[in-house]
Amino acid sequence: MTVTEPAPAPSPVPPLAARARSVGGSPVRDILAVTARPEVINFAGGLPAPELFDAEGIAAAYRAVLAEAPARALQYSTTEGEPALRAALAARTTARGLPTGPDDLLVTTGSQQALSLLATALLEPGDTVLVESPCYLAALQAFGFAGARVVAVPGDEHGVDPEALEELVVRERPKLLYTVPTFQNPTGRTLPAGRRAAVAAVAARRGLWIVEDDPYGELRYEGERVPWIAAHPGAEDRTVLLGSLSKVMAPGLRLGWLRAPGELRRACAVAKQAADLHTPTVNQLAAARYLADNDLDAHVSRVAGVYRERRDAMLAGLAGALPEGSVWGRPEGGMFLWARLPEPYDTTALLPRVVRQDVAYVPGAPFYAGTPDRTTLRLCFVTQTPEEIGEGLRRLGAGLRGGTPGA
Ligand SMILES: Cc1ncc(COP(=O)(O)O)c(C=O)c1O
Repeated sequence: MTVTEPAPAPSPVPPLAARARSVGGSPVRDILAVTARPEVINFAGGLPAPELFDAEGIAAAYRAVLAEAPARALQYSTTEGEPALRAALAARTTARGLPTGPDDLLVTTGSQQALSLLATALLEPGDTVLVESPCYLAALQAFGFAGARVVAVPGDEHGVDPEALEELVVRERPKLLYTVPTFQNPTGRTLPAGRRAAVAAVAARRGLWIVEDDPYGELRYEGERVPWIAAHPGAEDRTVLLGSLSKVMAPGLRLGWLRAPGELRRACAVAKQAADLHTPTVNQLAAARYLADNDLDAHVSRVAGVYRERRDAMLAGLAGALPEGSVWGRPEGGMFLWARLPEPYDTTALLPRVVRQDVAYVPGAPFYAGTPDRTTLRLCFVTQTPEEIGEGLRRLGAGLRGGTPGA
């Protein structure tokens, strides 16, 4: 007769890495999950208008590359990216005033991946990173995962203050400044040319990497284009420019790129090998084909025309929706509008009540690396039609009026 021993109680598995426990998920994603109900007018997501995707043109480009070069399109590719796509992106960058060759670029899986690669290539745990106040959320996550100390640079409605930047660089010895100078996420603001030159000069004088993230710059509705920081004297050898096809073609392609000096770009390429080997070949070739067969600038200017009307609809309705004493910006482009309600409104506390009115925004607090301003909120104005925006703002007004501020 065999005696079976009782199975020993299982030992717990080892814990997650400290960084996985300390970096929270994006509250924007959590809100998007709640607002997936079709009746919700969602000003929270940063979603380009899907009806404006050139689905036909993109489908034709995929059909062409799969019919004409299936062995290549479906094969592994180089980590740096498909030469045809890099050449097209380099030509677009050069045409916008920054001389660039294909070899200056690394294709990334969305510009989001460029942030992770840069964090891997540049940051030791404990290194200091300077960011805008408020700052793009998923950049805070990428730097948080790298174990960086994130410090906010004081600024105003035009962006970072170069003098405050210089003081912080001297005091904190940061590795890099992360900035979205054009139509920033979340504020929609644009850093004026003079400040760009001053930021470049600080980086040159004090020794600092600048990460210039520009996914929105092509979506301009008024005013003149402002040259990239990367194009300013002193910034050439220390600025990483990030670009993306997400907002001008379609985010589902997951195509972005980084333009960086050689040593850093090569380090990012090694980090990318470890992350995903390369960005999907078929997407890269289809995008290159699209850029060869279509006029992307003409498409972007059609999209910008529609987005301009949507921005104007939101600007027109805000005074009726937000409580008296609120202030908001007038973005010259991009996708976002930033508002500040009077004290003691708390937009995080108010959100559940507003969502019950079938409308959503993103509370401002999570975008701050330092002390949050709880009276702020971000509205995306490109996803809905002007009529829907009007209705959404009526609901927002009802939600905000429905109780005590801050309750
Ligand atoms: C400032 C900024 N950077 C980067 C990204 C990531 O874009 P993607 O990875 O789609 O290129 C976004 C997306 O919303 C963004 O707002």
